[in-house]
Amino acid sequence: MTGPRTGPAYDPAALARRARAELRPEHYDFIAGGAGEETALRENEDAFARLALLPRVLRGPGTGPGTGTRVGVLGREWPAPLFVSPTAFHRLAHPDGELATARAAAATGTPLVTGMAATTAVADVVAAARARDPEAVVWFQLYLQPEHEVTAELVRRAERAGCSALVVTVDSPVFGSRTRDLRNGFYDLPPGLAAENMRDLPGAAPGGTRDIAMWPAGWDDLRRLRDLTDLPLVLKGVLHPADARTAVEQGVDALLVSNHGGRQLDAAPAAVEALPSVAEAVAGRVPVLVDGGVRRGTDIALALSLGAVAAGVGRPVLWALATGGEDGVAELLSALRADFAQVLALCGGHRPGDLTADQVVARGFPYHRPRGERAW
Ligand code: FNR
Repeated sequence: MTGPRTGPAYDPAALARRARAELRPEHYDFIAGGAGEETALRENEDAFARLALLPRVLRGPGTGPGTGTRVGVLGREWPAPLFVSPTAFHRLAHPDGELATARAAAATGTPLVTGMAATTAVADVVAAARARDPEAVVWFQLYLQPEHEVTAELVRRAERAGCSALVVTVDSPVFGSRTRDLRNGFYDLPPGLAAENMRDLPGAAPGGTRDIAMWPAGWDDLRRLRDLTDLPLVLKGVLHPADARTAVEQGVDALLVSNHGGRQLDAAPAAVEALPSVAEAVAGRVPVLVDGGVRRGTDIALALSLGAVAAGVGRPVLWALATGGEDGVAELLSALRADFAQVLALCGGHRPGDLTADQVVARGFPYHRPRGERAW
């Protein structure tokens, strides 16, 4: 029997602990924290822990771990069903910030969603990624802005930079109540850091942690965005199946099921709990992505079994950045991909699409399907 013999074991909790030791307490809290009682934050991970995977057996050799993890998303082939979710202010975690993240993502073939609230301008992020891999997939995340012209300028910047999709975050009509930031009085970025994508935009003050305008946009605003650009639109933060259905009718190209890492509505369900009903509402018409609490290959496998085409990671990337810069992020992304490949093989799968909903059960005795019915 063969198995991994070299390299440290991948341990996401230890990574977070090491990052805590590296970071100023208020910066650690800004990244680690959630809204209110941090229920949604905890539930993202706990919900995965409540689920078990039923492996299938005697499925033959397939192509072996690591070779059969590819997935197709919006016309591109990704090496694994894994992407980097948009998180703000990477230079709080490491001086190289988003440049290091972009290089590591590109070097490992991992698609990156860079945020409007990045501490590095989108053009520089894409250039850093493309220097590692000219084919690197970089998407741009934005919040619809109260001034249409500001939204339009952000879109132009993302297009000029070479981003291949726009991720519109719609779970933030107002700013979530971030308990730890309020306690720490953390409202301003350290001197020298700014939300670089917001530079020279009317009304923007890119030096504060809460200056990214969150505003209650409507479906009309989304339609105006649709008319503005030919880039595919990915709607991030959809949890209700009725919204998922409307989004598809409105011509959205993909959905990202997310509770914003527990940073907005504290009573929101865990992302993976909301996933099956959204996937059902969408019924395969557009790809469904998910993020929140994804820490291991088993989480990615559970997400795929429940209808996602790929899963995103947020905080672990920032912990890896804080502890190891570019190399740390590359190690994390490689470890997650290898972990998923092994889990897929252990589940009897030869490719990500082999994972199916009947392989997911809720823990407990007797166990049952998360949505009630028995399919066997
Ligand atoms: C985020 N997230 C986020 N999402 C978004 O659409 N725009 C943003 O600017 C940010 N900023 C941000 C900052 C920090 C520090 C965190 C931790 C998260 C949410 C992010 O995209 C993603 O939904 C979650 O981080 C996923 O959960 P995990 O992997 O962190 O558990």
